[in-house]
Amino acid sequence: MTSDSDSRFSGFYRRTIEERIGVAATAAGMDPGELATSLAQGGLDAARADKIVENVLGTYALPFAVAVHVVMNGRPRLAPMVVEEPSVVAAVSAAARLVAQGGGFTAEADDPVMIAQVQVLDIADPVAAASTIERAKDEILSAVDASIPGMVKRGGGARGLEVRTLAGDMIAVHLLIDCRDAMGANLLNTAAERVGPRVAELAGGRLGLRILSNLAVHRRVRVRCAVPARALSAGGLDGVAVADAVEAASRFAEVDPFRATTHNKGIMNGIDPVVIATGNDWRAVEAGAHAFASLQGTYRPLATWRRTGSGVDSAHLQGSLELPMALGVVGGTSGVHPAARAAMKLAQVTGASDLAMLAGCVGLASNLAALKALGTEGIQRGHMSLHARSVAISVGASGDEVEAVAREISAAKVVNAGAASDALARLRSARAAKGDG
Ligand code: MEV
Repeated sequence: MTSDSDSRFSGFYRRTIEERIGVAATAAGMDPGELATSLAQGGLDAARADKIVENVLGTYALPFAVAVHVVMNGRPRLAPMVVEEPSVVAAVSAAARLVAQGGGFTAEADDPVMIAQVQVLDIADPVAAASTIERAKDEILSAVDASIPGMVKRGGGARGLEVRTLAGDMIAVHLLIDCRDAMGANLLNTAAERVGPRVAELAGGRLGLRILSNLAVHRRVRVRCAVPARALSAGGLDGVAVADAVEAASRFAEVDPFRATTHNKGIMNGIDPVVIATGNDWRAVEAGAHAFASLQGTYRPLATWRRTGSGVDSAHLQGSLELPMALGVVGGTSGVHPAARAAMKLAQVTGASDLAMLAGCVGLASNLAALKALGTEGIQRGHMSLHARSVAISVGASGDEVEAVAREISAAKVVNAGAASDALARLRSARAAKGDG
């Protein structure tokens, strides 16, 4: 995709699905026909689903969308998003457009190093056990590499070892393993199971669990952006006031775990849909994100915002986000789910770290959109008009009836099934009377 993508995507939401597929596929250098086929039936038929999990009865589709206007490290990107919540995709696109006015997102990712834990119990002298294991580090790490030769060939493998003395007679040995483009769960578990018995023997204790940790502290993404205040003017407020409102919202989350939880939910509104679209394990990302948010002993926001400078022409709203992001682009569901493969192509993903950074950008955009709305007009107005469409569909509206019913119930500020049914009935009888129903 080139930097003129902005104009190609303006008014994207007003196009038909077929037109959007054409524009998005072309921008990503894909064949539109291939994209349409990959997404048909949610990208997964029951026969294929039956090979992925057990006791399959069918499949369950969710909307597959793309967020537009995302610029990451100077390059325009499409962000595939699978999500059921109205307004999330629109909000991310709108916020990304503001961020693009400040040059876009700057993102970086750590090396993809994950932790596999080996628990050893019933240790008489945990301090002595820890130093014995540390002395045997080279032997243990060689055994890790020997257990995952394919990964070592691809440039990954053992990177380090940490011993953590836990309650009383228990230690946890962390094997640090570079998983390259894989999420790594299987590799980590294989390595931990392989070297676990030797670790327990060295520690003089009983072997316990051997499993990855989803608190992937060594595999973080960091995303920053600086939105010019002049881009933020909204609802009669000047851009500096909007920047201040977003900063005040951030400060609320920084001192209150109740608010931080909802603040982080807004971030995950952006991240999870990218993780799901690309066939990754969103429970792992969620678990890691919230544990990371609590790491300092209190639950903290994963992204924060500050206004810098003064005056609408020189002030900026600066945002930064950091969290663990264990994503893979090889193996797992991404290899067997046609829509997940299409998502990777649409996003022009070059590797696991690249995808992790993109998910981070979408998370920061989602957070900005939420704080900007909450700090100014509130979220209900925008949210309700989209919700109104779902309510209209739920009472049987179809085609252009959906917009007409949604408009009427939103304008009346009564967005519920009863009002939608009445509006639909009125619309149909008016059309029948005119002879165009
Ligand atoms: C709703 O899904 C997400 C928000 O509550 C996030 C936030 O409050 O920051 C709007």
